[in-house]
Amino acid sequence: MYYNWEEKTSTEELKVVCNLIKNGELVIFPTETVYGIGANAFDAEAVGKIFIAKGRPSDNPLIVHVGKKADIEEIATDITKVEEKLIERFMPGPFTLILKKKPGVLPDIVTAGLDTVAVRIPKNLIAQAIITFSGVPIAAPSANISGRPSGTNIEDIKQELETKVSAVIDGGNTEVGLESTVVKVVDEVPVILRPGKVTPEEIRKEIGAVRIDKNVFSKVSEGEVVASPGMKHRHYAPKTKCQLIYSKDDQDQIFEINKRIKKYRGDVVVIGFTEHKKDIVVSESRFIDVGSKDNLDEFAKNIYSILRRADHIKAQIILIEGVEISGLGVAIMNRLLRTCEYDYTEI
Ligand code: TXA
Ligand code: MG
Repeated sequence: MYYNWEEKTSTEELKVVCNLIKNGELVIFPTETVYGIGANAFDAEAVGKIFIAKGRPSDNPLIVHVGKKADIEEIATDITKVEEKLIERFMPGPFTLILKKKPGVLPDIVTAGLDTVAVRIPKNLIAQAIITFSGVPIAAPSANISGRPSGTNIEDIKQELETKVSAVIDGGNTEVGLESTVVKVVDEVPVILRPGKVTPEEIRKEIGAVRIDKNVFSKVSEGEVVASPGMKHRHYAPKTKCQLIYSKDDQDQIFEINKRIKKYRGDVVVIGFTEHKKDIVVSESRFIDVGSKDNLDEFAKNIYSILRRADHIKAQIILIEGVEISGLGVAIMNRLLRTCEYDYTEI
């Protein structure tokens, strides 16, 4: 079943969708970050269907979405002062907090057997309505086949997942475009396990300290124990090989990209900035404009649909312009590094 929220979703239809969730079915719904593929978090069998639909490794736990702050205590326990502050400041919003799991409430499959649980309160009104009407917490990873870019619009998602779920709710393009910032507090310091729209700077401002986990920017080595299982898995990747190029100096960056275009005899796609377009020597149809360097919100918002578009061109290589690692640039570079499987050149 397909529901276009703007055009016709009524309270009656909302009830139908929420009943599906309560009855153990899968529903794709928008949040402000990316679309989620959700199931009743209390229902182990329903949650199992998510792993099958996505082809997701069973050691990768899910985020549990609740409607309001009071609901967090239903699934988590021993919440510390620092965690409380983070909840107060960043929820609802594009922010996920790893908390101690309350024993005996959520089935093990949701948390991949860990004694912690990832909790998020989305701000998006459709997500809010679905969670509230369903009356259960909703376990939901991003709506995409495991290892592929996250779904941020219905066209992309339908191609991959429509036949595997009972309902798809179309809320238009998602607002942020990148998955939520995932944070775990360790020894009273918030540690960013996955950067997102909520930046390290904002967290530092609130708590007075912040750390970025080392695996946000470096490849996990064989057998290494990681803070978040998602770090180990291949992610955000098109099928075409991608290379990431960055320099503080725009001219150097453009020079290096042009050099590579020549090397691959023009059989490339360039994902680049509006202001660089005139200097990058690739045919018009092979330049995908991500907007201005001064508006990273736009880059973030479109990043996954752009990667899919670039992949469809089936070039030999996708060359991507990098950004400075600060503010939203932390999250963008984290995703791009993984997209490029760490094929990164800084000049
Ligand atoms: O914006 C988002 O976060 C979206 C929307 C749908 O809410 N969801 C999302 O879920 O991106 P997913 O499953 O694609 O990513 C969740 C990440 C994974 O990297 C997972 O390993 C990590 O959160 N995670 C979940 N539970 C965890 C836990 N208990 N400890 C550490 N990491 C955890
Ligand atoms: Mg995901």
